[in-house]
Amino acid sequence: MKGKVLVTGGAGFIGSAVCAHLAELGATIHVLDDLSFGRRELAPVPDDRFHQVDIRDRAAVMRVFDAVRPERVLHLAAIHFIPYCNEHPAEAAEININGTINVLDACASSPGCVQVFVASTAAVYPIHDGAVNEDHVTGPLDIYGTTKLACERFASEFHLRTGIATIVGRFFNAFGPNETNPHLIPEIQQQLLSGSRTLRLGNLDPKRDFIHTHDMSRAMAALLEKCVRGHHIFNIGRGVEYSVREVVEAFERQLGERITIEVDPKRVRKVERMHLLADVSALKELTGWEPQWSIDEGVSTLLQERSTTFDERVG
Ligand SMILES: NC(=O)c1ccc[n+]([C@@H]2O[C@H](COP(=O)([O-])OP(=O)(O)OC[C@H]3O[C@@H](n4cnc5c(N)ncnc54)[C@H](O)[C@@H]3O)[C@@H](O)[C@H]2O)c1
Repeated sequence: MKGKVLVTGGAGFIGSAVCAHLAELGATIHVLDDLSFGRRELAPVPDDRFHQVDIRDRAAVMRVFDAVRPERVLHLAAIHFIPYCNEHPAEAAEININGTINVLDACASSPGCVQVFVASTAAVYPIHDGAVNEDHVTGPLDIYGTTKLACERFASEFHLRTGIATIVGRFFNAFGPNETNPHLIPEIQQQLLSGSRTLRLGNLDPKRDFIHTHDMSRAMAALLEKCVRGHHIFNIGRGVEYSVREVVEAFERQLGERITIEVDPKRVRKVERMHLLADVSALKELTGWEPQWSIDEGVSTLLQERSTTFDERVG
């Protein structure tokens, strides 16, 4: 992949993985990130291609686009920890909705911008027991999903207004190295690597579609390659769901040790979906993409990487 790609949120968990993958494919990456959740060292770009800017600062966003003139833009900057968004709805709307409007307007006024990818989420779907495809009715349960559904609508309006090719990726649950938010898998990791073999967790039965960030990055690159015209929405998941218990079992297998689970009432969510599973046939049919990372392979790598870090910290 040739040309300049600007990635908002490129110092974050998924953004850093996709930047590295697109750079391997030959793209020149620029990162725009305010480092509120991301870390500078995760963005795999030199300082002159790192732009520390808050997407709420419209003028600053415009200045970056003016200087960079990207051909492709991947918009991943957002706040997305669901409990935080529920507690801070105005801030979530300000960053996720108004920030997205700023980024899209900058794309519209940037000569040479031919393709935009907007990160959305499986949280735009209502509760459903089977796999959901992209035609499934939307109906977010929380503030975060509501802000992301608004982003999707702005992306569609942006395409109609500008004719620029637009892809919306509905990400399911990502896992992999460099997680920035206190989600389930890093929580389990942290408790195990602090030496505990009794995990304190919330609801144990909900199932989620966990996709490794390497597989997610490959899916995004494949979509950028194929969707050079029009407006498209794709689920990006693995198409397999695991309960919290099954994730813990994967850690047990990789550690080779028994793990006990204690339910911590403080962590139990009052409103919880039992299933969140992607139908990824549209992604597979268009691109030929197949996931390569199983939950066990992902967990195994995480334990090795984090063990080293942990050993370094204590030793
Ligand atoms: N992690 C998941 O499982 C998941 C699932 C569904 C959707 N998503 C979406 O994928 C995208 C990336 O998520 P992630 O997991 O990498 O999260 P992340 O928090 O690691 O990445 C988001 C990045 O955006 C930056 N950012 C936040 N507010 C900003 C602002 N106002 N201005 C500029 N930069 C800002 C953060 O510093 C961070 O580097 C987000 O849009 C998120 O909503 C993630």
